[in-house]
Amino acid sequence: MTLDKLIDKENIPKHVAIIMDGNGRWAKKKGNNRLFGHKNGVTAVKETTEAAATIGIKHLTLYAFSTENWNRPKMEVDGLMSLLVSAIENESKTLMKNQVRLTTIGDTSQLPNNVQTKLQELINKTSDNKGLNLNLALNYSGKWDILNAVKNITKAVKNDTLDTEQINYDTISEYLSTKNMPDPDLLIRTSGEYRLSNFLLWELAYAEFIFTDTLWPDFRKENLYQAILDFQKRERRFGQISEQIINPNKK
Ligand code: FPP
Repeated sequence: MTLDKLIDKENIPKHVAIIMDGNGRWAKKKGNNRLFGHKNGVTAVKETTEAAATIGIKHLTLYAFSTENWNRPKMEVDGLMSLLVSAIENESKTLMKNQVRLTTIGDTSQLPNNVQTKLQELINKTSDNKGLNLNLALNYSGKWDILNAVKNITKAVKNDTLDTEQINYDTISEYLSTKNMPDPDLLIRTSGEYRLSNFLLWELAYAEFIFTDTLWPDFRKENLYQAILDFQKRERRFGQISEQIINPNKK
């Protein structure tokens, strides 16, 4: 029996975010270069997207390229950009067949022109799809997003379209690049690292965190199902006590 049969379909996280980590170490273990790890990471992306769509997750955000990743050797950055283009070209049909809608967060205007063009084509093509939203974080960081939100909120206050007194948590969420999706219920990070690495800093406030030693290129459907099963065993209290979750009328 595969693990997906054990999943409670009534308690599927609406939004799962993943820090895909360990591509370089996976390749090194195999005596190969880092790009080989990223190439095999694409297989894990495909498997995970398919599994997420199958069990009814609505949003899957993958940390594919951070604002700090530009500091990697040029060859690796160029390789990652080419991989992105080839993945877009190769997966277009499958995304359409599975009703997957592609979106991005991050400052994509700084990506190479051919990457921007290909991304935009697929975003447009999949925009009416009604299934999973596959959201790629590209040239993204949580601090960048919050900084951007602060700048835009300030502009709105200055031109009188926003009143300072009315700014609340929802206002901030609406100014972030994740404005059209609920906050993640679950964050997964692979490769045995226990850091947030500047990912979704505002949105992960109440997410459950699952860390696994599996290196990203080895991550398969069953790993996602296992993470969902672990998530379903957690009790999400949102600052309340256990008894209040079981009996919501308890004061
Ligand atoms: C982290 O591993 C991985 C990345 C920074 C890039 C992730 C990219 C892919 C999986 C391929 C392209 C993505 C899509 C969406 C098609 P690392 O290099 O930091 O590994 P290490 O910590 O072992 O060095």
